[in-house]
Amino acid sequence: MEIKNICCIGAGYVGGPTMAVIAKKNPHLNITIVDINADRIAAWNHPDLSKLPIYEPGLADIVKDTRGENLFFSTDVDSAINNSEMIFISVNTPTKTYGKGKGMAADLKYVELCARNIAKVAKTDKIVVEKSTLPVRTAEAIKSILHNTGNGINFHILSNPEFLAEGTAVTDLLNPDRVLIGGESEEAIESLAKVYSSWVPENNILRTNLWSSELSKLTANAFLAQRVSSINAISELCESTGANVNEVARAIGMDSRIGSKFLNASVGFGGSCFQKDILNLVYIARSYSLNEVADYWEQVIIMNDHQKRRFSDRLIKTLYNTVSGKKIAMFGWAFKKDTNDTRESAAIYVADHLLNEQANISIYDPKVSEERILTDLNYLNTRTEAENRNGVSYTALPLDAVKDAHAIAIMTEWDEFKAYDWQDIYNQMQKPAFIFDGRNLLNKQKMDAIGFEYYSIGQ
Ligand code: NAD
Ligand code: UGA
Repeated sequence: MEIKNICCIGAGYVGGPTMAVIAKKNPHLNITIVDINADRIAAWNHPDLSKLPIYEPGLADIVKDTRGENLFFSTDVDSAINNSEMIFISVNTPTKTYGKGKGMAADLKYVELCARNIAKVAKTDKIVVEKSTLPVRTAEAIKSILHNTGNGINFHILSNPEFLAEGTAVTDLLNPDRVLIGGESEEAIESLAKVYSSWVPENNILRTNLWSSELSKLTANAFLAQRVSSINAISELCESTGANVNEVARAIGMDSRIGSKFLNASVGFGGSCFQKDILNLVYIARSYSLNEVADYWEQVIIMNDHQKRRFSDRLIKTLYNTVSGKKIAMFGWAFKKDTNDTRESAAIYVADHLLNEQANISIYDPKVSEERILTDLNYLNTRTEAENRNGVSYTALPLDAVKDAHAIAIMTEWDEFKAYDWQDIYNQMQKPAFIFDGRNLLNKQKMDAIGFEYYSIGQ
């Protein structure tokens, strides 16, 4: 099928950057990104590019070049579906918060709504592409909905999971390690492969069956998260034995079979997907009665929860077993640097734990707003909104956060933290001045020399 018009349902962290890059590399294609969230679409259309709903290095420039040319943002979902030969489904697939599979399974209601909507309004043959991360065999359900409720036209379903990481979305999209396309119709697969072949070398475009493609996405995230939990497990052993986790990571990473990437010990992984996708994998394994498989992967989450808890426990213990009434500065709230995304950020859980101990938390993050921080804490439902507002303060400048603080907890590895005048920061704090570096970002010798009581992960 010749593709001239593409529609993407879901203008989020994946839909926005992915379609912007496809538009940039395929000026001959017309691409419309639709969303039911009118505020989000308005933000994508904002004349001031600093107001785009998603912060990603390099994204604003691509949107500037393509928006209004061959990239459009709209709330008119039905027209965009009707006018396109290819439709990407890129909506959220969060962990279920109700009913069967609560807390484990992926909530597929938004995906199903998309499928029903496509079936209802489509009048010509369509290729429907799963871009969202989905449980293996979801394409079967989508196919059934499309064929049973559609207008008698042909639908081809493809799975084309996205592997971009936030903070590096644009470079990941421009130079993907691979593009994965799973499907049953060779013609449909080649239609999508052609879109990518504008900039992705042929050898990096992988074709598989539908189920392998769906399962590869969950597996990739599970393996990546497992590496973080593995090095974090070793970090605790380092703290008990005098080994240094950075040295251990370097030593094992030089083994080409292990590789050096993704071995940074931390306060714990966050982000919208690792936990959700592993829980989903565990749920699927259990649903096939594969209990050993499920237990194996569940341990990755258990270790991560332990690491977050261990970080705040260590902070409290070191501060003479009480943080009640003490000011604790938090540097960073985003789940990693170079993004304004805070979903499942370790900072949320550490802050929650410290608030339970009646700490006063002062937070600075270069890209996250006060409103977002309060929303994240309120979402946990641990205490009232008023209590959260009382317990945390937000500062637009890092120096305001540290004034009279007993300790600084580094939660995100923002580059700017390394460049601060740490002597000045030390001078502003209560003594002894503690740093708990959840990202092993700072230089221990330098911090010791200034006079800080410096604690990092696994050292
Ligand atoms: P997101 O929450 O940022 O965006 C999803 C958007 O879909 C929202 O704006 C929402 O309003 C919209 N939406 C929901 N239902 C809709 C409907 N029926 N019609 C129109 N719009 C609808 O989510 P995201 O981070 O972009 O993730 C999307 C999917 O991609 C998820 O399955 C996720 O697991 C996967 N993924 C995410 C990342 C990432 O880095 N965030 C990377 C790879 C894969
Ligand atoms: C991750 C994957 O890397 C992407 O390939 C995938 O597409 C995406 O999930 C998804 O499906 O959503 P992302 O969550 O954006 O991307 O960011 P990562 O760089 O993977 O980091 C995830 C978390 O692990 C962050 O909190 C990060 O700080 C932490 N991390 C990562 C470590 O603690 N140590 C490391 O060595 C690496």
